[in-house]
Amino acid sequence: MEFFDVLRSRISIRKYKDTPVEQEKIDELIDLMRIAPSARNRQEWKFVAVTEEEQLNKLRIACESRGPAMTAPLIFCICATEYNSMNDSGYNRGTIDASIATTYLHLATYGMGLGSCWIGSFDSDMATEIIGCPEGTRVITIVTVGYPDETPNPRPRKTFDEVAVYNHF
Ligand SMILES: Cc1cc2nc3c(=O)[nH]c(=O)nc-3n(C[C@H](O)[C@H](O)[C@H](O)COP(=O)(O)O)c2cc1C
Repeated sequence: MEFFDVLRSRISIRKYKDTPVEQEKIDELIDLMRIAPSARNRQEWKFVAVTEEEQLNKLRIACESRGPAMTAPLIFCICATEYNSMNDSGYNRGTIDASIATTYLHLATYGMGLGSCWIGSFDSDMATEIIGCPEGTRVITIVTVGYPDETPNPRPRKTFDEVAVYNHF
């Protein structure tokens, strides 16, 4: 699929077929996150692909109430390995970098014919423990992935004029 078509037609998928995601595709997704940009090219991240049923079930509990997306056969935990590092603006580098990698993942799944959903709210202490993160490393985002079993309508967006500003608010 053309890059701009991916950007324009991507959509969150929350219902998946049981079909497992092939190992080559999982590796390709990790490799695409690997080349994402990061502040000062620090690359302080780890990408954990979860496919084992026992681990999936634990993550589903950590994401309780996040809805049907959690039945996915593949769940990625995107981790920041220097979680407490702030940039000069006072923003958390790990969160920013992990979010960029997560965006790469979300777009790449769509480009590959897979579906995914970004899970932003979860019990982060629990997820970090389930994954077995070492000290200083935390799960920042979770993404469910699988073959789509739904074709949802696109969600509405603000208009260009509502979001575009030149020079001053
Ligand atoms: C940071 C972030 C957190 C999100 N958290 C959740 C979530 O916890 N559960 C969920 O079902 N969708 C979640 N989403 C998906 C959004 O609801 C979705 O992207 C938005 O409604 C726009 O729909 P679309 O992705 O289909 O265009 C999240 C998306 C982002 C970017």
